[in-house]
Amino acid sequence: MRHTPREASPRRYLMCPPTHFKVTYSINPWMDPTKPVDLPLAHAQWEDLVDRYRSLGHTVELLEPHPDLPDMVYAANGATVVDGRVLGARFAYPERAGEAAAHLDWFRAHGYTDVRVPEHVNEGEGDFAVTSSWILAGRGFRASPLSHGEAQEFFGRPVLGLDLLDPRYYHLDTALCVLDDTRDEIMYYPGAFSPGSRAVLARLFPDALIATEEDAAALGLNAVSDGLHVLLPQAAVGLFAPLRERGYTPVGMDLMELLKGGGSVKCCTQELRA
Ligand code: ARG
Repeated sequence: MRHTPREASPRRYLMCPPTHFKVTYSINPWMDPTKPVDLPLAHAQWEDLVDRYRSLGHTVELLEPHPDLPDMVYAANGATVVDGRVLGARFAYPERAGEAAAHLDWFRAHGYTDVRVPEHVNEGEGDFAVTSSWILAGRGFRASPLSHGEAQEFFGRPVLGLDLLDPRYYHLDTALCVLDDTRDEIMYYPGAFSPGSRAVLARLFPDALIATEEDAAALGLNAVSDGLHVLLPQAAVGLFAPLRERGYTPVGMDLMELLKGGGSVKCCTQELRA
């Protein structure tokens, strides 16, 4: 297959170490509180991800973990930053509610002035994905449909709502990944979406990489791309060849301990878009 030459651009990410990570409650089908978590291993796997970003030339900022907020390692959920504007999160479940303020405090302490405390439930980049033309926005499990209008008004970018149907793919970033944010290139798993949303995706992104059920179930779409390198769960083996064919360099990561909370590469990574 012929493809456009790919180019990496340097990114800035906000991440939170899994110091207090555990699975003591269940708010998605991946979480089983009876399954033990190997905390040192979770830490080592998370450190690998940080090291990998830094070795690729990206900047990783760190958020202070809080002992009462075991899901804080999934930093993607704490806010959405586009054009230097910060839309804070408002979590669907009380167990995670406290994370929103921790993120807002970080942004205020780091010179961000255009910060909105949201009116409607949204879990940051869990349900918002930024392409060059759109902000794709999931709904059905976490983000309120009303948060889509709020994001559109705040960012001044068109927000396109997509309906999620399968509880395993409870956030948009478990079923869809932006590969090239300068060209509207994505990969996704159609089975996670309603028939109407599938038709919308097929119409807007006819050249998208379509993931199989198997790769989606390995959380292979919970990936982060810098335009060239695509960091994704290494168990999603079926995605590697099609990514290479499109000119990307897949980088497999082992975040198996963090999968026990229902997240992987993308969930741990919030992108700070200047
Ligand atoms: N245990 C967390 C939850 O269910 C996992 C969040 C994963 N993050 C993500 N961006 N999908 O809320």
